[in-house]
Amino acid sequence: MEKTFLMLKPDAVQRGLIGEIISRFEKRGFKLIGLKMLKLDRATAEAHYREHKGKPFFESTVEYITSSPVVAMVWEGKNIVALARQMMGDTNPAQACPGSIRGSYALDISRNIIHGSDSPESAEREIKLYFREDELMSYSKIGEEWLS
Ligand code: PPS
Repeated sequence: MEKTFLMLKPDAVQRGLIGEIISRFEKRGFKLIGLKMLKLDRATAEAHYREHKGKPFFESTVEYITSSPVVAMVWEGKNIVALARQMMGDTNPAQACPGSIRGSYALDISRNIIHGSDSPESAEREIKLYFREDELMSYSKIGEEWLS
């Protein structure tokens, strides 16, 4: 089953949106298989955003993501990488569809409340950056037969 890495950024935690956002993914039918709250150190943040090193927003993005705790999660489900990105809405909340997570709760690209892997390959890399293999749960969930 496809997996993705999602992170609730510092503004989501500070604004009390953890439950609301997790609930959307649960209700859609996805399965939570890993969850931890942590305060990112600079090295992890730089590794996370390594492909953006040198871009004008790199430094401020690293500062923002390390400024306060985040919630790191691994979710599983059919087409989850693409569907989670769709649920999140455009990277820039000003262009995100109303009803999407960013279109509902955010205003500015520099504080866009959630990160989601942009491909299964990125998901694999990002999951490894935040989780050990034994921190990911393998279990069956009531109702799974109603989702395929
Ligand atoms: S881009 O423009 O194609 O490099 O954007 P993308 O690959 O979607 O991700 C860029 C990440 O940096 C965060 N960020 C910004 N992006 C673009 N412009 C500005 N000004 C900016 N500020 C911050 C953006 O939220 C992406 O991080 P994640 O964690 O993936 O949301």
